[in-house]
Amino acid sequence: MPDRLSSPEVKTTLDAIRGALGRVIHGKSEVIELLLVGVLGGGHVLVEDVPGVGKTTLAKALARAFRATFTRVQFTPDLLPSDILGAQVLDPKEGRFSFQRGPVFTHVLLADEINRASPRTQSALLEAMSEAQATIDGTTHPLPSPFFVIATQNPVDYQGTYPLPEAQLDRFLLRIGVGYPQPEDELRMLFSRQRENPLDHVEAVAGVDELLAIQAAVRDVEVKESVAKYLLAIVAATRDHREIELGASPRGALALFRASQARALLGGRTFVSPDDVQSLAAPVLAHRLMLTTQARYGGTTSASVVEGIVTSVRVPT
Ligand SMILES: Nc1ncnc2c1ncn2[C@@H]1O[C@H](COP(=O)(O)OP(=O)(O)O)[C@@H](O)[C@H]1O
Ligand SMILES: [Mg+2]
Repeated sequence: MPDRLSSPEVKTTLDAIRGALGRVIHGKSEVIELLLVGVLGGGHVLVEDVPGVGKTTLAKALARAFRATFTRVQFTPDLLPSDILGAQVLDPKEGRFSFQRGPVFTHVLLADEINRASPRTQSALLEAMSEAQATIDGTTHPLPSPFFVIATQNPVDYQGTYPLPEAQLDRFLLRIGVGYPQPEDELRMLFSRQRENPLDHVEAVAGVDELLAIQAAVRDVEVKESVAKYLLAIVAATRDHREIELGASPRGALALFRASQARALLGGRTFVSPDDVQSLAAPVLAHRLMLTTQARYGGTTSASVVEGIVTSVRVPT
């Protein structure tokens, strides 16, 4: 077992990152943990919530804390794939074409309201996300590493949107909801912003190289066969459930495995516990499922179906 797993520097860095994010967004430690599971697991996250709950602030603070480059793209119906990936542009002075990199060439990309862009533009981003490269006019360009996408969707305002199909949603390691702060946290927010913006005081606590090293350490986290079988039993139960039309794919199982490893490392452990799998099942699997029409009309959510599955599958001892 490589020592990088239990190295005190990793713990120090993770605590510092939590602290940095917790100072800009109050009362949202669970959201911060899930965001870090996404980053450490080397995945991408979909944040589904209404405007003004701190999504942009979190994304910017995360980039700053890891000394990472950051870009934000507002998705709109007229956005073209080249507006994200980049394009060959003619240099009038030189008289020849050169590649102009698009906003996707960054470490942290905030893709705001991803469901407002056309399916063609959405899939350009999703392809770049899953392949860590962008293909423009037949030429492939590698993206920076690490590359982390935080895509947002407003769950209330669906008018004029192009909902992402499950096959595309499957590319996101996790889906996270933020929610309103508790009254005492919202009160603290008012005064912490009275004279200044706490975001301006976020300091770098690590570099992107350190993040890459932590991502590598996540892969060393041990998963016992009994725990892996438990994970698969939960996944299998989504494929054989009366309220689910389409269950989780093997990609979903891999995602739950990796996310559980990241949560274990965040918890200071060198092994995955059934608790990691349980608490991540809904954030990792729910957005990949298609409920039956009947279940949807009955007001059931895929997250509650997954929670139900978790309570019904026997936990290994
Ligand atoms: N839980 C919270 N704690 C502290 N500040 C918050 C919280 N939620 C929202 N804010 C503040 O509200 C403002 C709007 O947040 P922003 O990140 O722009 O939201 P979004 O991107 O979700 O629309 C920012 O000043 C942000 O810091
Ligand atoms: Mg925003």
